[in-house]
Amino acid sequence: MFLVISMTKITVSIIKCDVGGWPGHSSTHPRLEAVARDRLQKAKGSEKIFDFEATHVGDDLNLILTHQNGPDDEEIHSIAFDVFEGATEEAKRLGLYGAGQDLLSDAFSGNVRGMGPGVAELEFTKRTSEPILAFLMDKTEPGAFNLPIYKMFADPFSTAGLVIDPNLNHGFTFEVWDVKEHTRVFLNTPEDSYKLLALIGAKERFVIKRIFPKDEHKLPSDEPVVAVSTEKLVDVAGEYVGKDDPVALVRAQSGLPAVGEVLEPFSFPHLVSGWMRGSHNGPIMPVSMDDADCTRFDGPPRVVGLGFNLDVDHNLVGPVDHFDDPAFDNARQKAADITDYMRQHGPFEPHRLPLEEMEYTTLPGILDTLEDQWEGVEEDYQKAETVNVGEVE
Ligand code: F6R
Ligand code: MG
Ligand code: MG
Repeated sequence: MFLVISMTKITVSIIKCDVGGWPGHSSTHPRLEAVARDRLQKAKGSEKIFDFEATHVGDDLNLILTHQNGPDDEEIHSIAFDVFEGATEEAKRLGLYGAGQDLLSDAFSGNVRGMGPGVAELEFTKRTSEPILAFLMDKTEPGAFNLPIYKMFADPFSTAGLVIDPNLNHGFTFEVWDVKEHTRVFLNTPEDSYKLLALIGAKERFVIKRIFPKDEHKLPSDEPVVAVSTEKLVDVAGEYVGKDDPVALVRAQSGLPAVGEVLEPFSFPHLVSGWMRGSHNGPIMPVSMDDADCTRFDGPPRVVGLGFNLDVDHNLVGPVDHFDDPAFDNARQKAADITDYMRQHGPFEPHRLPLEEMEYTTLPGILDTLEDQWEGVEEDYQKAETVNVGEVE
């Protein structure tokens, strides 16, 4: 409504990495954030970035940066890489668990993609007021964002503006990645909604990567309004090294979902996969920064929501800790109740993930140890059938 476009294009990047847990995989030691702030302050001092926030959820160190270099920029990624290397050294010194866990290579070659860290970046023409939210998850995978982001941008029962705001009701374009085939497709809402849901309901494989305004929208249709990190550590490492613990950036207001519409989907603690040993389904709990440390059964999976504006010098004005609010108490209580319920299944599906998602755990090894003990059942089965037939006669 009060939108004025200036021509300044800026980039907001979240680059995150698990460089060591304190203790186990539960939390991030404050010294790691201190190392990050120290190095990012230097990068800010030498005007390589406009501003930064260094924070964590669970055992993941998250860097939120503003700059003018666009996504996938070598200078920006090398700043993040330098932070993670410094934090890894500190983690080793403190004896933290899994020091350097996600930093799968120490040879930086222009980009942190494919090296372990997760990345979500948005480059856009800055509006006079630019509300932007960063969602940081731990103990889950990128597909955990499919449901809430679909609701924000395509579900009229969640986002009222899709129905009652003429600036929103032509819908959006979703960029969906097939993380197995390494391909992508663009689908428009509302017209392709059912196809979109058919894909993103399979959240292990199809993930929302970005969302764009359509041509009819007052915002440029080539500037994304959502970005999700989709790095798959499994693909990067070639073997299981932990879930990806994704992050997302979402722009809000004035032709986009309002901040409250962006937050609304998290009032439902939907089931996501990850949690203990990256091998269990459980509810995602929206928490404040004070509760952003994993505890029960290394979880339950958590999400924090940090809100910012960008000032005239492109500094991050914030964060506002959005889930630090009794309005989300019911969601937390529900998540705690679902945690009790799911845990009672112990090693049984659907609490434990199905076999095909367990292939990076010990199960193939267990099957190997039993290799010599398996015997065919076909002969016995035929014999049993013959006996039965005879008995009937
Ligand atoms: C899940 C996670 C933890 C670990 C678990 C076992 O993503 O990081 O649940 O899988 O604590 O960790 P290790 O095998 O390192 O003892
Ligand atoms: Mg860890
Ligand atoms: Mg983690």
